[in-house]
Amino acid sequence: RPCLSEMKFIIFLTLLIISGATDSRSEQYKVVGPADPVFAVSGEDVILPCSVKPNISVVDMRVGWSRPDQNDSLVHLYENHVDKNTDQIQFYRGRTKLIYQELQRGNASLKLSSVQIFDEGRYKCFIESKSWNDDTTVNVKVEAVGRPPVITVDGFDYSGGLHLQCESEGWYPEPDLEWLDNEGVSLGSETTATQRNTDGFSVKHTITVRHSDKIHCRVKLRHHMLETLIITTSNMFISWRIPVILISFFVVLSVIAGILIVVLVHKYKAIHLRTYMVNVILDADTAHPRLIVYCDGKQAFGMRMHLLQESYYTSKNTNGSEFKDFSFQHPCSSEMKFICLTLLVISEITYSRSEQYEVLGPADPIFAVAGEDVILPCSLKPSISVVDMRVEWFRPDLKEAQLVHLYEEHEDRNTEQPESYIGRTTLNHQELQRGNASLKLSSVQVSDEGRYKCFIQSKSWTNDATVNVRVEAIGTPPVITVDGFDDSGGLHLQCESEGWNPEPVLEWLNSEGVSLSSETTETQRNTDGFTVKHTTTVYERDSMIHCRVKMKHHMLETMIISSNKRFNPLRTSIILISAVVVLIVIAGILIAAFVHKNKELHQLNNENEIIKKEDGQLKEFKIKLQNDCHTLQNDISRIQQESEEYIKRMQHEHEQLEKEKSIIKQERDQLQNEMSGIQECSSESDQLLQKEKTRIKQEDGQHLQNENREKEQVNTQSKKGKRK
Ligand SMILES: *[C@@H]1O[C@H](CO)[C@@H](O)[C@H](O)[C@H]1NC(C)=O
Ligand SMILES: *[C@@H]1O[C@H](CO)[C@@H](O)[C@H](O)[C@H]1NC(C)=O
Ligand SMILES: *[C@@H]1O[C@H](CO)[C@@H](O)[C@H](O)[C@H]1NC(C)=O
Repeated sequence: RPCLSEMKFIIFLTLLIISGATDSRSEQYKVVGPADPVFAVSGEDVILPCSVKPNISVVDMRVGWSRPDQNDSLVHLYENHVDKNTDQIQFYRGRTKLIYQELQRGNASLKLSSVQIFDEGRYKCFIESKSWNDDTTVNVKVEAVGRPPVITVDGFDYSGGLHLQCESEGWYPEPDLEWLDNEGVSLGSETTATQRNTDGFSVKHTITVRHSDKIHCRVKLRHHMLETLIITTSNMFISWRIPVILISFFVVLSVIAGILIVVLVHKYKAIHLRTYMVNVILDADTAHPRLIVYCDGKQAFGMRMHLLQESYYTSKNTNGSEFKDFSFQHPCSSEMKFICLTLLVISEITYSRSEQYEVLGPADPIFAVAGEDVILPCSLKPSISVVDMRVEWFRPDLKEAQLVHLYEEHEDRNTEQPESYIGRTTLNHQELQRGNASLKLSSVQVSDEGRYKCFIQSKSWTNDATVNVRVEAIGTPPVITVDGFDDSGGLHLQCESEGWNPEPVLEWLNSEGVSLSSETTETQRNTDGFTVKHTTTVYERDSMIHCRVKMKHHMLETMIISSNKRFNPLRTSIILISAVVVLIVIAGILIAAFVHKNKELHQLNNENEIIKKEDGQLKEFKIKLQNDCHTLQNDISRIQQESEEYIKRMQHEHEQLEKEKSIIKQERDQLQNEMSGIQECSSESDQLLQKEKTRIKQEDGQHLQNENREKEQVNTQSKKGKRK
């Protein structure tokens, strides 16, 4: 069998070629990622797609993810059949996952959990086999949906505009914020501020509203949108009138005062010019603070007007509202029909006692949620087919149009069905065979609430069951209306929410969650359900005011911020009035000063006249005096001449006297000489006299001695004589 070996060879060769081809092909793959950026929502999970083409298994390969825009740091690594995340950056720890089953199908997509803003950027997916490698880049864009915008009521301006501020935080990337009016027309923002922090972007826009309207603040980002609504009433915009009147009064008064000042300054200058012409330098630093001093320091003009920052507003009283109680009357016709039916039922029962069937309904009311579907249970016991019977659902509590659904002669006969039920009722025909006549009511409305009768009629008997339906409707989110300020600075707020069933509870809460009492409360009921409307006045500043509407397990809430920039109208009016009073006083003083100055001017003029007269008199007196003076001067000159002559004569006499004096001196000198001669002579004679004296004295002494001796002698002799 030569054929066999050839065959063997051919098969071997073919297999070799095929295996070689598959082998080489398996080694040459392409890594593919998405062409468009992958959008991830902050907080959610995202899959970064990456796969190989053709879709061979990558289980035995090295699969990795890195961030080329972050120094190529490692996000996830799969190697030798296991995850090797020791070198993974901290930021991604525990948040990355590769699905092993998918790896077998060439799918290396990475699951990234709880996405954060910092996850945005480029990611590289690389797949390496022993002989081949390739990579692709996935661009990730992160979106963060921020918090619902919050509107702040930020007071009024003087033109009566209401300042509103809308703020929303935590968006990424930067969202668009816009103000819309009731018709959806965009209103331009006055100021816009955008901040970026770790939480994302926060946007803050302000607007001034000048007429009553519904104002929406809408924050949009690609497919996401959040919106807050505020209503401003015309109450807000009446209040500007009083300040406008006050301000105009103020302005008029200022103008009058200004004119007076100008006139006064002018007059004053005139007085100065006419009387003294004094050069006054005004020092701007020490001048009266209300006086404007020009640079040269020589002129001053007017008063500085300080416009007040706030004004006065009023608000109207809110009318009390009636509470309307709706009660339902049982219509006669339905009663009649009911009686008829009851009679019929009784007759039927008597007719065929043998067939003891009962129509069963639920014991408890059926709760339906508005907008959803509900099944009104109704069945036969024992369960036999009702396909051949007449099944009628109707509402015995309605006056007219009671029919809800009719099944007769094997088909639905709803030609007489009222409009409100058209297309919303279904009987399951298969279930009818099993004795189940339950009615399915689609997109439940509040008006569906009430009693339903499931009435089943066979040829031989009739029976019915009652189903009570309660509808729960969650209303619209509450809308806060800013209804002006009162005199004591309280902010009037109204909160309204519609479409609730049963009646919800509305309450006001402040920042601390403390319940604020409502001033007026109003509840209305219509086909859509209950509408609640409460008002309150907030005196707290810088406080978040919540309006919360609750019903069983449902709660809706709206919040508003009352800013502390809101002014106190009382304070403002006091300031305004005091300013006006001050201005009036100033004006009064100025007028008084003006009158006074005028009087002074008159007085001055009179005095001037008197002075002029006196001046004339003085001038005459002066002329007289001048004449007198003249004569006096003549006299003086004459006297001077005479005195000069006298002086000359005296001088002459003096000279003569001097001469005589010198002669006398000479004579005196001679006499002195003579006298000295005489003195010499006398001294000589004195000496001689002295000599003589001494000689005489000596002689006298001797003489005395002699005498004494004689005396003694005499004495002794006399003694001798006596003895004798
Ligand atoms: C990248 O590395 C350089 C130096 O190694 C460092 O300075 C820089 O901060 C790094 N950048 C990032 C984004 O990690
Ligand atoms: C590879 O892709 C083809 C179609 O492109 C598909 O039929 C096949 O099942 C895939 N193989 C694996 C392992 O997923
Ligand atoms: C790859 O795997 C991910 C799950 O990890 C899946 O969502 C994705 O659809 C897969 N891609 C393909 C092309 O099968």
